[in-house]
Amino acid sequence: MSHKEHKRDVFSSKFGIVAAAAGSAIGLGNIWRFPYLTGENGGAAFLFIYLFFVLALGVPVMLSEFIIGRKSQANFFGAFRKLAPGSGWPIIGIMGVAAAFMILAFYSVVSGWTLEYIVAAAGNYFADKSSEEIKVFYDTATGQSWRPIFFMLAFMAITAFIVKAGVQNGIEKACKMMMPLLFVIVLVLIGKSLSLEGASKGLKFLFQPDFSKVEGSTILNALGQAFFSLSLGMGAMATYGSYINKNESLGQSAIYTSLADTFFAVLVGLAIFPAVFAFGIEPSEGPGLVFVIFPGIFNQMVGGYFFAVIFFVLLAITALTSTISLLEVVVLYFVEELKMKRTVATWVAAGSISALGVLCAINSSIFGFFDSTSSNILLPMGGLLTVIFVGWVLGKTVVRNELEEDGRPAFYFRIFIPVIRFLAPLAIAIVFLNSIGLLKF
Ligand code: PFF
Repeated sequence: MSHKEHKRDVFSSKFGIVAAAAGSAIGLGNIWRFPYLTGENGGAAFLFIYLFFVLALGVPVMLSEFIIGRKSQANFFGAFRKLAPGSGWPIIGIMGVAAAFMILAFYSVVSGWTLEYIVAAAGNYFADKSSEEIKVFYDTATGQSWRPIFFMLAFMAITAFIVKAGVQNGIEKACKMMMPLLFVIVLVLIGKSLSLEGASKGLKFLFQPDFSKVEGSTILNALGQAFFSLSLGMGAMATYGSYINKNESLGQSAIYTSLADTFFAVLVGLAIFPAVFAFGIEPSEGPGLVFVIFPGIFNQMVGGYFFAVIFFVLLAITALTSTISLLEVVVLYFVEELKMKRTVATWVAAGSISALGVLCAINSSIFGFFDSTSSNILLPMGGLLTVIFVGWVLGKTVVRNELEEDGRPAFYFRIFIPVIRFLAPLAIAIVFLNSIGLLKF
């Protein structure tokens, strides 16, 4: 490395890697997006298709991203430039940076709502409010006013401060403490939710699939959600992969991260859907679903006030560990490719993304467009090209080298190659073609 290049960080342990990767993966995608999509797409059938995609496609794509990152020791664009010089592959890097812009724009708006909810919960605003009244609060808090813009900007500023200072110390330590706490609160919520009258309908909705109602859009949404939830297809995991030590097992890191993320999504589903049915709310309520349901559950609990405050604080923190990874993709690109100073890069990125964020905050169609286009098109496309790149361009020897454990290729190496060469690209392509109506099944 020439001394002109900036010094690259390395994660200190396996736990550090998984904490950071799971910190990126676990976020509003699990607690906000997963429940509302499951509700809109008919429940169990969506859940099962989603689980299938996580295992069959998510894990191999995550592993491919880790390989690209660790092998290249560069940002997502620079990675392709280094690994396939003079080719057109770096375009995937540009797509990734574009996807990070779009996702962070609407994601920071929802993150802003969590701040709004902390303030409301701390002021005991939700006490004794009915579901309808909470819904009115949600509509006002997220409606077209200065409030969502203000909170979105506040959230972006916090993200930028942390990214500017470097991720390792503050956020990773906080993450390791907060994640287990969030987990415990979700378990408590599940207990309460299951005890409500009519809860069993929610369980049926979540676990008893009716595949006859599945449409092309259901499958595409499940695919998009698998990528979104695992932070795949835009270089976040490749970026984190570039910080993974040479002697760590990439396969284990990918499996642990994917399992933690998926397990968490299912737990949140278990907390939400029994209450949805008990409160008589439509599961297809849309993006407001969890923001109406959770305060309602807290209202019915002893100590609900404290649980609510802690819950929304933790929700904001899990959102933060994800916004950090999104901003990091853009910042590292600016630093390594455009040779900006880290501080300048951070503010330029945060500033321009905030401008898009304002658009998302005031216009729900733009919000919806960014949300579905990035997840359902850009991420699967990025993932598709990533596995093709690793499978066909990077070559077996490089892959084998990266997957070596104790001097031998890991046991999954043999299946990994055909999966990323054939199965994963085919599966993603089929889902795409089906959703645009070119292929019917
Ligand atoms: N995986 C995050 C979540 O589920 O909330 C969202 C996300 C983060 C998507 C980072 C993409 C990404 F690169």
